[in-house]
Amino acid sequence: MVECDDGRILVTGALGQIGTDLVQSLREIYGSEMVIASDIREKPGHPCIINGQYTNLDVLDKDRISKIIRDFNIKIIYHLAAILSARGEENPDLCELINVEGTRNIFDAAREFDLRVFAPSSIAVFGPDAPKKAPQLTPLNPTTKYGMTKVDCEILGMIYFEKYGVDIRGIRYPGLISWKSPVSGGTTDYAVDIFHAALSDESKYECFLSAETRLPMMYMDDAIRATISLMDAPINSLSSARCGYNISGLSFTPKELVFEINKKLPDFICEYNPDIRQKYANSWPDSIDDEFSRNDWGWKPEFDLETIVNEMITNLKKS
Ligand code: NAD
Ligand code: SER
Repeated sequence: MVECDDGRILVTGALGQIGTDLVQSLREIYGSEMVIASDIREKPGHPCIINGQYTNLDVLDKDRISKIIRDFNIKIIYHLAAILSARGEENPDLCELINVEGTRNIFDAAREFDLRVFAPSSIAVFGPDAPKKAPQLTPLNPTTKYGMTKVDCEILGMIYFEKYGVDIRGIRYPGLISWKSPVSGGTTDYAVDIFHAALSDESKYECFLSAETRLPMMYMDDAIRATISLMDAPINSLSSARCGYNISGLSFTPKELVFEINKKLPDFICEYNPDIRQKYANSWPDSIDDEFSRNDWGWKPEFDLETIVNEMITNLKKS
């Protein structure tokens, strides 16, 4: 377990899809007083706000980052604040600003205050020229602005590690599937939205990707376990992949997901009407080779498609 008893953990972008789950898990492990959730927005009643300390933080505000680190005695930052792929392509300048400058601000603070940082990357770092089963080491030529910002941050992380000794770690998350938070702004969002639609009175969904679009995906519980395992790993076990480890969960198409949902909800209907997000999905790999993560820090996924569908339907029905 990461030693953090000499300081607290800060999570940026905590009100988003990953933060909602990660903050809860970190508070369960370390105690709620040890984990400070932060975001640029207010969301009254959000579990991150009511179940522990919450503070407003725009990651473009360097002075406020420093003040929070001092005031709360922060030792580890999970930096989740970002603009995702679909929203990023709509507003590339904002995407560049938040994803790259925001991350640079966090890395600068980590250098000044000697902090450990988790900064997630994405399968969007790969472009159309990468093999469809993407290896750890391959040319990264993304065609989306979002993907470019993720490559920039991986490189920036390596520079801060090699030049200044800042302990920065990251994972190239696949599309994440979870039930605790709504999703928006991403290309893999369909795999969450579809469950909400399937459980609605109409039980019908219009999918913005084609039926045959195969993408790497992962259940949130696996992603959180991977994140905490990577942060727990001894520094010497990490390789040159430290700022962007490939991790694989499973791969499926919308059609395969609908087939599995129909086993539980036979009346559910999905129609396909691909939009601009199809282009982004087409530029990404359909599966991931995660040999480095398995070897360096013992990564192994647990959730298959049938289990994910069962978990999503059961939990969304309860919530
Ligand atoms: P999200 O969009 O759900 O949440 C991001 C949060 O960042 C939001 O709550 C937003 O309010 C906040 N934010 C935006 N601008 C900010 C600013 N200037 N200062 C502070 N907060 C700001 O995203 P997520 O899905 O939770 O993703 C978190 C990280 O994981 C991102 O780096 C993302 O690129 C990466 N990632 C996510 C997925 C996925 O499927 N969810 C896949 C690959 C990588
Ligand atoms: N799931 C993310 C998105 O669709 C990939 O990083 O934007």
